[in-house]
Amino acid sequence: MPSKVNGVGVQADETKICVVMVGLPARGKSYIAQIAQRYLAWLSIPSKTFNVGNYRRNDAPQPTADFFDTNNQEGERKRRAAAEAAVADMIAWFQAGGVVGILDATNSTKERRKWISEKCGALGIEVLFVESKCDDEETIMANIRDVKTTSPDYKGQDPEEAAQDFRNRIRHYEKVYKTIDGDGDESDYTYLKILNIGKQVIINRIQDYLQSRIVYYLMNLHIRPRSVWLSRHGESMYNLGGQIGGDALLSERGELYARKLPEMVRDSVGDDRPLTVWTSTLRRTIATARFLPPHYNQLQWKALDELDSGVCDGLTYQEIKDRYPEDFVARDEDKYNYRYPGGESYRDVVIRLEPIIMELERSEDILIVTHQAVLRCIYAYFMKNDQSKSPWMNVPLHTLIKLTPRAYGTEEVRYSANIPAVSTWRGKGSTAKHESPGTEVSH
Ligand code: ATP
Ligand code: F6P
Repeated sequence: MPSKVNGVGVQADETKICVVMVGLPARGKSYIAQIAQRYLAWLSIPSKTFNVGNYRRNDAPQPTADFFDTNNQEGERKRRAAAEAAVADMIAWFQAGGVVGILDATNSTKERRKWISEKCGALGIEVLFVESKCDDEETIMANIRDVKTTSPDYKGQDPEEAAQDFRNRIRHYEKVYKTIDGDGDESDYTYLKILNIGKQVIINRIQDYLQSRIVYYLMNLHIRPRSVWLSRHGESMYNLGGQIGGDALLSERGELYARKLPEMVRDSVGDDRPLTVWTSTLRRTIATARFLPPHYNQLQWKALDELDSGVCDGLTYQEIKDRYPEDFVARDEDKYNYRYPGGESYRDVVIRLEPIIMELERSEDILIVTHQAVLRCIYAYFMKNDQSKSPWMNVPLHTLIKLTPRAYGTEEVRYSANIPAVSTWRGKGSTAKHESPGTEVSH
């Protein structure tokens, strides 16, 4: 089969996947859709979510529960029209080069699934059904309270009445809902069924590499509250000299940061919450984490090592400009894709970080002590940062960043150790050893 590099990794040239969400309302379908899209965007795989509810709102902005009664002909007609409009837009988007389209709707009847399957099949678009099935009343009520009462469907309405109406809406859906392949007559479909937020998963007929990556990723998601703390290593001797790469030890001020880190972590994490600490295999991150309490599990990952700067390892930016002037310019022109001779690009770093992201999604509280470029890539994943901009992000030394993923976005808190350090940030064109962020000057 012909292949090309599509996003990252080698993917069959013509692969197009329609991920069709399935499930009753308030089962986390939109949540799963947006997390999947964030992951795909981070991997530079063109993806887009088509939310049928948004299309329906054009025609029925604030319907009450009876709109969703299948005996309500007007409601049925409008809902069908919304689904058709969303699918038509999605197909046009596939034809313009889209790779993974996510159809976010309940798709709760066999007829609806057959219709989508045939429509996509005729155009050579693979269909992956992703069903979220949950019968835990407490979770459903919490979902309704957390996200449904603030949905545009209930804008300006009393939250208690909105919650009651939403319960009634779910009852209408329950009358016609069929879990995928529940009768054994949808066994030809490719599907992932997530039961009670991952307590059990059922996988059927996964066909190719990209599908299996999406499925594996979704299998690992959980919604238990947790945070991820990120820190660069303490200031290193190379940082002081403006050199990149290497395996230097900490400077005196870097040592001070290492000694202060346990207190900062304790203040932010709390005394008795278990924490896992990941470092790279380089001496500066291991030294930075070495005063953390021994009851924290520590793990070293090669995948967290700093971006490999190849032939430029150990040089200052000025030395790189003098010795490899064309490379210096090329990197500034496209920092995300530029690969150091014999080394890596940011895009390469993202590829090698994929297992880290998978593991992060499965995990509870984690502190990652790593390096400037790697931290930027992990940060971009959580904050949905544009990959062309993330290599330019300022990540100061001696700062602890706490990220807390929520249903729709990630919260961030930064704690400064108040221990001075050089700035290793560099603006486009600059060769300054230590430049202040925000001053993009050519030297
Ligand atoms: P609707 O059909 O009304 O659009 P939905 O199924 O898309 O509903 P969401 O809006 O995604 O529901 O619900 C979000 C809530 O679901 C969040 O609070 C999130 O924590 C929770 N959630 C995420 N994953 C799951 C899951 N697998 N099962 C149940 N709830 C989940
Ligand atoms: O200067 C510190 C450092 O971690 C280097 O080891 C690394 O090459 C560099 O930052 C990555 O930052 P940039 O991609 O902005 O050069």
